Amino acid sequence: MGSFSGRHIIDTADLATEEILHLVEIANQLQDMGRDKARHVAAGKVLATLFWEPSTRTRLSFESAMFRLGGHVLGFSEAASTSVAKGETLADTIQTVALYSDIIAMRHPLEGSAFAASTYSRIPVINGGDGAHLHPTQTLGDTYTLLKEKGRLEGLRIGFLGDLLFGRTVHTFARLLARFGAEMQFFAPEGLNIPEYVRDSLESAGANFKEREWRLESIEDLDVLYVTRLQKERFFSEEEYLRRKNSYIINKEALSKAKPDILILHPLPRNEEISVDVDPLPNAGYFRQAEYGLQMRMALIAACLGVVA
Ligand code: CP
Repeated sequence: MGSFSGRHIIDTADLATEEILHLVEIANQLQDMGRDKARHVAAGKVLATLFWEPSTRTRLSFESAMFRLGGHVLGFSEAASTSVAKGETLADTIQTVALYSDIIAMRHPLEGSAFAASTYSRIPVINGGDGAHLHPTQTLGDTYTLLKEKGRLEGLRIGFLGDLLFGRTVHTFARLLARFGAEMQFFAPEGLNIPEYVRDSLESAGANFKEREWRLESIEDLDVLYVTRLQKERFFSEEEYLRRKNSYIINKEALSKAKPDILILHPLPRNEEISVDVDPLPNAGYFRQAEYGLQMRMALIAACLGVVA
C-alpha cells in the first residue's frame, strides 16, 4: 500500500483495494476523534477549491472538511471571476494556485482535465468531477455510506436508475463496486445506458451485472437503489431531455413493493426522480450520504496532505 502523502486523486481505479479501506479507517478515526481534536489535524494548511462548474455538495463539503480539520480555504466557484476569463490556461492557473495552497480540489467540464491539472501541479490535485467522466470523491463517499449503512459491499444487490450515460457518479461507483463483489442492475431510459467503456471495464473485471428495463416490480429484490437525475446540461437538445423527463419516479408507493430495509441513495441534486414524500422514511439515505461524503473528504484531505498516517 502506497502512502497517500502528496498523491493526486484522479480516479478510484488508481487506488488499491486496501488503500480504499484505509481511507475508510481514516474517516472513522477522524470522526471518533471528535470536533475539538480534529480541528488541529490540518492547522495552518490551505485548500484551494477551483470549480469551473456549478456545485453545492462537492465544493462546500470540501471546504467544510478543511475547516473542520482546522485549515484554511481559498478558491473560486465560477471562472468568470478569475483570469481564466482573460484567456489564462488551465496549466498556468494550476501552477499559480499551487504557489498559494497545499492541496487543490477541482471540478471542470472537460473530461481528463483533473489529470491534466495534476501534471502541472506540485501539490495534490483531487478530482471533484471532470465532465461526464469521473467523480472519485463521490464514489469514496458512497462506498463509506454503504459500509456505514449496510455494513458490507460484497453480495449487496444494487440497482442504478437514471441517466447512466452522463451520470459520472455511476461510472466511477460501478467500477469500484465490481472489485468488492456487489451485484449490480442498471436501469436507464432509452439511449441513456452505461457507456461502452464502463461496460467493458465491468466485463473485464468479471463483475456480476445486468442491464434491464425499469418496471415497478424491479425494486422488489434490491438492497440498495441508487437514483440519478437526467443530466440536462449534457443533453444534445431540450427535446431529447423532455422526451425522457419523468420516465422514472421513486415515491412512497413505489417503495411499498421494496424490501423494508431498502436503502435509497442519490448523489444529489435531485429533480423530480425521488418524490419528497420519501424524505421522512428511514430508507431515504441521500442526505446521510451527503454527510458521509463530507467525512470521506476530511479523510482524503488529511491523507493527501500527509498529516495522518
Ligand atoms: N453530488 C454532487 O456532485 O453534487 P454537487 O454537484 O452539488 O457537487
